[in-house]
Amino acid sequence: MIPEEKLIDGKTISASVNAETAMEVAELKEKHGIEPALAVILVGEDPASQVYVSRKAKMCVELGIRSEKIVLPKETTQEELLAVVDRLNKDASIHGILVQSPPPKHIDEKAIVEAIDPEKDVDCFHAQNVGRVLMGERDGFLPCTPWGVTVLLERSGISTAGKNVVVLGRSNIVGKPMAALLLGKGVTGDATVTVCHSRTKDLADYTRRADIIIAAIGKPEFLKGDMVSEGVVVVDVGINRVPCETAKTGFKLVGDVAFDEVAPKAAKITPVPGGVGPMTIAMLMKNTIRACRRQNGL
Ligand code: GUN
Repeated sequence: MIPEEKLIDGKTISASVNAETAMEVAELKEKHGIEPALAVILVGEDPASQVYVSRKAKMCVELGIRSEKIVLPKETTQEELLAVVDRLNKDASIHGILVQSPPPKHIDEKAIVEAIDPEKDVDCFHAQNVGRVLMGERDGFLPCTPWGVTVLLERSGISTAGKNVVVLGRSNIVGKPMAALLLGKGVTGDATVTVCHSRTKDLADYTRRADIIIAAIGKPEFLKGDMVSEGVVVVDVGINRVPCETAKTGFKLVGDVAFDEVAPKAAKITPVPGGVGPMTIAMLMKNTIRACRRQNGL
């Protein structure tokens, strides 16, 4: 068994972030008569996306945020989807808009993201917002999963300043913005950041030298025990469904880290599930409040 103090508890930390957000929502309503609202669009029937979208809508209800869940058939055309985004852009009662990724193959995701009003881009996917993060802005929208990782570290008492941090993965949603946050100045930055990916040579040479590893490479149990040093801090962003004979569903969820091998060597480590997952939604809710405040001049 892994001692409890080793685990970075995403459930508890996300609950405290959500409690702060709920208080902000209550204040917006009581003091200003404003109800924050988030529109979540799902195109098609991808089962994992259905789960994520439902979780986001449910969290809105819990925190007092109005949610508009828009489910469109998988045959929806690019033009039809753009028309929905346009309607939401123009609707002043909607503060945040997100289109669940990935959309069906015939949809040009980049064009959809760029069509969302940057002021309502609570995913922080729009080039304008990505660019601002890269240039060091921290009081606008922040990328939800990477932001959640920095909050997990900060609230677990783990400083990133001057540390060797290895980010595994270079996706636009996690790897690249994660590196940007860690590299920037400030309490959750100031790190020396190395980004490794599928084409990195001798990848374990980098991970063995790391003080902190953020695994977001999308491969089940990729980071093995012999790839890390004693005392490393490991944050596992991966969520992979793998076959499991003993599970009723026939599947189980594992991260990008071989937990049983890595945890004994780690000073601190996130579990999957119950680590990064709940943080992503908590930070999405915070971005929605930032959107609402800005659009109301607060
Ligand atoms: N798919 C996986 N993660 C995300 C996310 O953070 N936002 C959206 N819109 N889609 C996703």
